[in-house]
Amino acid sequence: MGIDDNPADYVARQRLDGKLCAVVGAGNGIGRETAIALRQAGADVVCLDIDEAKAGAVAAEVGGRAMTVDATQRSEVDDAVECMVEAYGRLDAVVDIVGASFGSSLLEIDEDLIRRNFDLNLFQAMHVTRAAAAAMAKTGGGTIVLIGSSAGLSSLPNQIVYGSAKAALHHFVRCAASELGHLGVRVNAVAPGYVRTERMVARFDIEQWDELSSNIPLQRAGELAEIAGAALFLTQELSSFITGHVLVADGGMLNPPRVLRASSSRQIAGRLSNN
Ligand SMILES: NC(=O)c1ccc[n+]([C@@H]2O[C@H](COP(=O)([O-])OP(=O)(O)OC[C@H]3O[C@@H](n4cnc5c(N)ncnc54)[C@H](O)[C@@H]3O)[C@@H](O)[C@H]2O)c1
Repeated sequence: MGIDDNPADYVARQRLDGKLCAVVGAGNGIGRETAIALRQAGADVVCLDIDEAKAGAVAAEVGGRAMTVDATQRSEVDDAVECMVEAYGRLDAVVDIVGASFGSSLLEIDEDLIRRNFDLNLFQAMHVTRAAAAAMAKTGGGTIVLIGSSAGLSSLPNQIVYGSAKAALHHFVRCAASELGHLGVRVNAVAPGYVRTERMVARFDIEQWDELSSNIPLQRAGELAEIAGAALFLTQELSSFITGHVLVADGGMLNPPRVLRASSSRQIAGRLSNN
């Protein structure tokens, strides 16, 4: 087999015209921004949310359709996917942003807190991925994007249960991608660091934001569009050979320079430059 040396059309690979994309948790924050991003790329967008009014408002913004669903309920997810496929005849991409952190230290966790974290951050994503993948497999494949977290990649204070649920989600992405690849279904996740969502802005005061920012190589928290942009990339043909990955969008937070004592830092820098 020869090598095709015709250059690809990279702008065309960014477009989603004629594609049906669903956003689960579209009513707010990263979900709303993702719905807008997908629409700007040309997709028909279905906005799913547990909150009917929010789903409706975002659907109106993107000229799409709203559906009310509690993603933690397997039967509701199945019905919603069936309804989309019936109405549009296909399902090309799903971005599921549902999730929230219910924080606690290890010594204070109770069963309710464990359940809430795992229901909202892991189990619902399993329901959505299973139902969407089955529908996509019947219409030639598709792409699924879940939202993980930097809390699932390192230990952040009071995030032990949330972080465990997100870490499990990251592993689920790898396993689902292996199982679904032969059906033409890609599965990836975006793992945000600190992002200025409504919930997070309310959680910290200005001084705390400054302190957080000083620990991030880019010296700031992320914006909604920077997470929606990563999710958009994973739905586009530009990422067609990427599956089973967790794309970390954290301003470099998980890879900060190691702080060394001044003397050892000088010694190590000297050795590294004398190779
Ligand atoms: N903000 C951050 O710094 C940060 C960092 C890492 C990861 N994340 C992750 O990003 C994602 C989005 O965060 P956000 O702050 O934009 O969320 P948000 O709370 O602003 O929005 C979540 C949306 O999901 C909907 N929703 C909630 N439960 C639902 C359910 N059971 N079924 C269907 N819809 C439901 C809500 O009504 C809401 O519209 C989450 O998965 C979160 O864990 C956020």
